[in-house]
Amino acid sequence: MFEADGRVALVTGAGQGVGVGIAQALARQGATVAVNDLVAERAEATVASIGGRAFAAPFDVTDRNAVDAAVAHITNEAGPVDILVNNAGVPVGMDLVPFRDATPDQWRLYIDLNMYGSMHCIQAVLGGMCDRGWGRIIQISSGAGRAGLNLGISMYGASKSGIEGLLRHVAVESARQGVTANCLALGMMGHAGSDVDDAATAPLTRSIPVGRLGTPDDVGAAVVFLASDEASWLTGQTIDLNGGSVQH
Ligand SMILES: NC(=O)c1ccc[n+]([C@@H]2O[C@H](COP(=O)([O-])OP(=O)(O)OC[C@H]3O[C@@H](n4cnc5c(N)ncnc54)[C@H](O)[C@@H]3O)[C@@H](O)[C@H]2O)c1
Repeated sequence: MFEADGRVALVTGAGQGVGVGIAQALARQGATVAVNDLVAERAEATVASIGGRAFAAPFDVTDRNAVDAAVAHITNEAGPVDILVNNAGVPVGMDLVPFRDATPDQWRLYIDLNMYGSMHCIQAVLGGMCDRGWGRIIQISSGAGRAGLNLGISMYGASKSGIEGLLRHVAVESARQGVTANCLALGMMGHAGSDVDDAATAPLTRSIPVGRLGTPDDVGAAVVFLASDEASWLTGQTIDLNGGSVQH
């Protein structure tokens, strides 16, 4: 079950953190994985950790032309993308700022990455998935997309809400073509490079019912399921992956 032999996957922002676990898990199931990151060296390090069935595909997801060129390159190298995981979602220079103090230039970082970046990647692969009658789109989101938090991440949360809304529509529009589209709303993750510092998150960590922060492997396992043939009746959903937390 849950095999991905013969599938081609694109995982964005997979040069560190959560994306590494996703790329490694899909490769273990047999997928050929295009490992994207803004920083080429990070993408190459992830590829090295996987071994044979992966290659680096560095580009900026916020640049539509770069996305289209990269998807064409991946198609030439490995075949058309069957599984898209939009994981890049923490912009370079993310600051913790209450909304009343945030500037439009700061707002734009989040909309550009979580909305436009994800939409560019979805549009670059969706037509082909529909034509071939099989595809999986998995959006990595956050509990901050649906819960208000006093952490200075309002625009981050708003951009996650927006992309979750788009996925629900894409899911229904593509449902008869064998394409599923789902979001995983992550709770607090514990890997190096995590987006919020330990002192700020300690009270939240203590409140997680499972008693620990999430890991990239936790997310990789959920992505493997959503990307599988067996998950073909699961679409249009935002699934909480958060150690049982009720409040994110
Ligand atoms: N870390 C957490 O606690 C947490 C919690 C909830 C949700 N998430 C979500 O999980 C996902 C991964 O988070 P993470 O903590 O692993 O992030 P991270 O910042 O550790 O790593 C993300 C990678 O994305 C790359 N990246 C940034 N902008 C990019 C762009 N424009 N194009 C291509 N690559 C780009 C970065 O270079 C970086 O290597 C994000 O969508 C994030 O919102 C994380």
